[in-house]
Amino acid sequence: MEAQIDADTAAIIVNNPSNPCGSVFSQQHLLDILNIARRNFVPIIADEIYDNFVFSGQTFHSIGSLSEDVPILKCGGLTKRFLVPGWRMGWIVIHDPIGAFNQEVRKGLTCLSQRTIGSNTLVQIYKLIRIRSKGMFIIKPNVF
Ligand SMILES: Cc1ncc(COP(=O)(O)O)c(C=O)c1O
Repeated sequence: MEAQIDADTAAIIVNNPSNPCGSVFSQQHLLDILNIARRNFVPIIADEIYDNFVFSGQTFHSIGSLSEDVPILKCGGLTKRFLVPGWRMGWIVIHDPIGAFNQEVRKGLTCLSQRTIGSNTLVQIYKLIRIRSKGMFIIKPNVF
């Protein structure tokens, strides 16, 4: 992976747990990726939308929880965990201990969040309530 990094590299994308393979990176593997990112001053975009879906015997580690200095944008969403494809509700968590995203990236994310590509109003005002004992969920409005 390190051999692929050059002056045009903007970020390393880490999809963990992986779709479609289902692979789950070990803590050591994630630390190795962080070391490469640190050595090359490249931030990480971590697609961790499947963080609640791992095969038995596997343990998921969020790469942000392992990073003391490498800036990370962690992407997540409702779709997979709550089985609501099409709701278009996701988020990006900024993990930026060194302030690398303070200028352009935060501004860009703010602009992106204000575009009309997000979930519709009804989705935004509804919340999911899980019925834990039956492993099901229901949806309820927040404001009506
Ligand atoms: C790895 C991964 N990340 C993100 C997404 C986006 O999910 P959605 O647009 O349904 O919220 C998908 C959808 O299949 C995915 O497989």
